[in-house]
Amino acid sequence: MQKPSQSPSPSQSGTRIAHIGIVVEGLDAGVSFYRDILGLPQVPLEDSDGARIVGLAAGASLVELLEANRPDSPIAKFIAKRGPGIHHVCFSVDDLDATLDRCRAAGIRLIDQSPRVGAEGKRIAFLHPSSTSGALVELTEH
Ligand code: CO
Repeated sequence: MQKPSQSPSPSQSGTRIAHIGIVVEGLDAGVSFYRDILGLPQVPLEDSDGARIVGLAAGASLVELLEANRPDSPIAKFIAKRGPGIHHVCFSVDDLDATLDRCRAAGIRLIDQSPRVGAEGKRIAFLHPSSTSGALVELTEH
């Protein structure tokens, strides 16, 4: 996937939280809280990684509600083991390849050895929680 040709303005550079992935048992109940009670606008997102996803815009960051759409999906396994809750945090970085190189050099355990295309059509890569103080971390780029 091609990156947009425009370079980010200085205010857009630097690592920031792109989205927080929250596993839900039912999208409707999740949407009614985050959209209708908290007032976060709903953003259309494609299904990805065996999950139906609803995006909700919280400023420049998204809340992504993840519901398993097949029994063998990673989300289904997560919910069977731990129940609903925060699943991962996604950081948007200036240079995904350079960040992954730094991770590799530092011995960080990578789930994705190289970037792949994620739910928002951007290149992503996951890092293993054993290397990130227990949080499943997803990386993407602006
Ligand atoms: Co994500």
